[in-house]
Amino acid sequence: MSTEVLLPDRTPPARGIPPDPALPEPCGARLTEVEQAIEGRRTSSPRRLGLPAPSDAQLDRMLRAAAAAPDHGQLLPWRFLRIGAQRREALGGAFAQALRERDPLATSDQCAQARAKAHNAPLLIAAIARLNPGEGAGVVHGWEKLVSLGCAIQNLLLAAHSLGFQSALTSGRAIDAAPVRALLRLARHERAVCFINLGTETAPRKARMRPAPSSFVSDL
Ligand SMILES: Cc1cc2nc3c(=O)[nH]c(=O)nc-3n(C[C@H](O)[C@H](O)[C@H](O)COP(=O)(O)O)c2cc1C
Repeated sequence: MSTEVLLPDRTPPARGIPPDPALPEPCGARLTEVEQAIEGRRTSSPRRLGLPAPSDAQLDRMLRAAAAAPDHGQLLPWRFLRIGAQRREALGGAFAQALRERDPLATSDQCAQARAKAHNAPLLIAAIARLNPGEGAGVVHGWEKLVSLGCAIQNLLLAAHSLGFQSALTSGRAIDAAPVRALLRLARHERAVCFINLGTETAPRKARMRPAPSSFVSDL
């Protein structure tokens, strides 16, 4: 297997974060603290996410956590796109347009609801998979790239939770529609997988039951 195959067919993105020497190896965090973060995270409805939003410094910590995701071949097969306040109106318009294209009989109320989804969370990030088949060809399957993105998202959510913020992932039928793809300026092989909604919960949501390990593990 040649190294060439592993490398992306374009200039590799900058990967500028060296390992933090202050972090002991193996990880010094107590397992119970990690478990608390993982098991304590739960989704908040985007409609219940208000201010404060994470600061730039806090977001940077979350993104560093995302950057620690497993990544076969170091392809960085994903990216995040922040959608600031000044672009929310346009995103809402794209949601409404996608609805009208899907359902020409959509009422103005339904269009208004679609628009409103763009305005819920104070911090909104599109999680984008980069699925160029030329990158990692023959070595890294497309689904591995999606797993890497999923790990990055979960790392980010756990960092947000540990910093005291709440979150929700939303996709919706509009996410892969032409008006939304155009607004996000996605390249041909890119897919917006979900939006990451972040903020501070204004009303808590009930935690859901988690599946028992016996429901998803077996022995070969
Ligand atoms: C990629 C992805 C997209 C999602 N999109 C939606 C969505 O559009 N609407 C929704 O109600 N839940 C959506 N969910 C599910 C919620 O984010 C959440 O995981 C679920 O409600 C379970 O709650 P919990 O995270 O507290 O366990 C999505 C989950 C994933 C992984």
